[in-house]
Amino acid sequence: MYSNLIIYYFTGTGNALAVANWIAGYFSKKGIPSQIIKIEKNKIPEIDAISESTLIGFCYPTHGFNAPPVVLDFLRKLPRRKGIKVFLANTRAGMKISKIFTPGLSGLAQICPALMLWLKGYKIIGFRPVDLPSNWISLHPGLRQKVVFSIFLRCERIVKRFSEKIYSGKKVYRGLFDLPLDLVVSPVSLGYFFYGRFALGKTFIANHKCNSCGLCIKQCPVGAIGFKQGRPFWSSKCESCMQCMNSCPKRAIETAHLLTALLWWLVFSLIPVTITSYLAHDGNFFSQHYTLIVWIIIFTFGLPVIFRGYKIFHFLMKYKFFSSLIVYTSLTRFKFWRRYYAPKKYLKQSHSS
Ligand SMILES: Cc1cc2nc3c(=O)[nH]c(=O)nc-3n(C[C@H](O)[C@H](O)[C@H](O)COP(=O)(O)O)c2cc1C
Ligand code: SF4
Ligand code: SF4
Repeated sequence: MYSNLIIYYFTGTGNALAVANWIAGYFSKKGIPSQIIKIEKNKIPEIDAISESTLIGFCYPTHGFNAPPVVLDFLRKLPRRKGIKVFLANTRAGMKISKIFTPGLSGLAQICPALMLWLKGYKIIGFRPVDLPSNWISLHPGLRQKVVFSIFLRCERIVKRFSEKIYSGKKVYRGLFDLPLDLVVSPVSLGYFFYGRFALGKTFIANHKCNSCGLCIKQCPVGAIGFKQGRPFWSSKCESCMQCMNSCPKRAIETAHLLTALLWWLVFSLIPVTITSYLAHDGNFFSQHYTLIVWIIIFTFGLPVIFRGYKIFHFLMKYKFFSSLIVYTSLTRFKFWRRYYAPKKYLKQSHSS
């Protein structure tokens, strides 16, 4: 039915690459040449030479109830083509509590890319979420190896069934099962896309174990880290894919929990509430529109204050006392707060390319 398969993928910690490998591996076994291509920032996808019988897939993680901005940007640049068949597979935050596998939530992570592709003339033949282990270790410790492997085994079966159906020409809209919930959380995905993600990159710091090897800078898929004062500095381009933190050979990257809590408390509570309360007097404009003014201050000044604050903290990190304070008040420094990366065996390509 298909002459070849091309899968475009983006990944932070390997989950989406594992899914791309499983699907490509299945098609290769059926004699269909398969190729997987990494989505890179500012790279325009070349699909002009692709024939009508090519199947295209997109595999990527879910970030803030949406597809990562780098993926949305790639789709935006994708040339229009009528009738080319495509599928989507977004990885989500899977967990296992006791013996129960719990799913993540896609939000707009399928709806938005599917809509963009459909508007460009592509034919969506399937979309499916895949609940691989959650990699958001700024929020929770990395899962235990045993749990990681059992989640992978389960997902491998799920992705195989998905591949079978797509290969045999069936349509798979499994992603629609969660549509009501996905729509409920869609305001959060918009908030994350337009605001929250810029603040998240400013939660990372490199501790004293960092030997300035530069690996995190080299590997960051969106070029968001640079050296400042001889230490890694996270810019607002960061998409919080978690690659750097999970693959630093010195385990030197932490989420600065105390610093973040302080900065966010200042920006989202203390500063806007104090300014508005100061301006509001009986019945005047500021007291009548109190909540609105608080929100306007947050949206206007929030990010610039966070960026400036992070710059100051980065400068102060060169002082031993300050750097120890930040590191010792970060939960990610604890040994039990594991790091996460997809097991190596799932990242090996088992297909033609
Ligand atoms: C910043 C961030 C936001 C995330 N948001 C979501 C989300 O909205 N829903 C979800 O199910 N998982 C979410 N996750 C979890 C990842 O989507 C999930 O672990 C995914 O499998 C990682 O894939 P990767 O290894 O290919 O990067 C988030 C992870 C990060 C780091
Ligand atoms: S990879 Fe780790 S040790 Fe190397 S520069 Fe980055 S933070 Fe430092
Ligand atoms: S800085 Fe780290 S978390 Fe941010 S996009 Fe780059 S690799 Fe991912």
